[in-house]
Amino acid sequence: MNNNNLYRPIRAEILEIRQETASDRTFVLAWNSRPLPGQFFEVSVPRLGEAPVSISAIEDDRIEMTIRKVGRVTDGIFTLGPGDALFLRGPYGNGFPLNRFENKHLVIAAGGTGLAPVRPVIRHFTARRDQLAGLDVLLGFKTPDDILFRDDIEKWKCDASIRVTVDKPADAWSGAVGVITTLVPEVDFRDINETEVIVVGPPLMMKFTVMAFLDRAIPPEHIWVSYERRMSCGVGKCGHCKIHDRYVCLDGPVFNYAEARWLQD
Ligand SMILES: Cc1cc2nc3c(=O)[nH]c(=O)nc-3n(C[C@H](O)[C@H](O)[C@H](O)COP(=O)(O)OP(=O)(O)OC[C@H]3O[C@@H](n4cnc5c(N)ncnc54)[C@H](O)[C@@H]3O)c2cc1C
Ligand code: FES
Repeated sequence: MNNNNLYRPIRAEILEIRQETASDRTFVLAWNSRPLPGQFFEVSVPRLGEAPVSISAIEDDRIEMTIRKVGRVTDGIFTLGPGDALFLRGPYGNGFPLNRFENKHLVIAAGGTGLAPVRPVIRHFTARRDQLAGLDVLLGFKTPDDILFRDDIEKWKCDASIRVTVDKPADAWSGAVGVITTLVPEVDFRDINETEVIVVGPPLMMKFTVMAFLDRAIPPEHIWVSYERRMSCGVGKCGHCKIHDRYVCLDGPVFNYAEARWLQD
């Protein structure tokens, strides 16, 4: 499935579908090349249109995408089952700089569906724990019912320090309650100059979570964010994703915060 023409959608068979929450499903797709963690595809359903979607897991013969049902294209995707197909253009975008994180203390803060694009980073380093000095993962969800990738979260606890908080608890919830920024003071930063931070989630969550890390004296150039802008072409032609002179589809979606703080909404 080498796609030399980046505009040409490639058929990807749906192998399996997992219901993550009431509105999120993970689609396991046959795909035999390995995109980078943090990249995305333009996913289309014939006659309905296309939507940019991050890659939520990467294997040699398959990828996963975790999709929230919000409108025309995603409604169409949710009518499909195993044996049907999605059509993918890409992969597009830059991805996370995994080499830069090696031998560092990596702290990942993800809000809601922001966990989807960083899941491949967590999977990469929990499988290679010797490549990091430490791994802290902070996860925030609206309610316990919104928690994504529950099985993964349990497995990651063997190789990382995982903290999960919810804004609104349910009766059976015994974990932390509060917005994700309340978890930042709990992190033990051994050496801020040897720490790298990833923040991904809705715009307000990203803004306040980055501020919380800056309050802990993490240098802006050690903070990485991934932006979800409205996109169309995905390849720097249409201008939909342009902010000042930067194209989120080409220059991002992953940005170093020191270079991109002025890109924030
Ligand atoms: C780089 C990138 C990666 C993404 N990764 C994922 C992912 O992994 N999983 C996932 O579920 N979604 C992801 N999205 C968002 C996804 O592209 C939109 O939800 C999708 O385009 C909606 O299309 P639709 O036709 O179903 O909905 P529409 O009918 O177009 O819109 C339905 C509602 O969603 C809102 N909306 C549409 N697009 C966006 C957007 N980009 N940001 C915020 N609100 C939007 C609209 O304003 C409207 O209220 C990503 C977006 C980008 C840019
Ligand atoms: S989506 Fe068209 S230029 Fe970025």
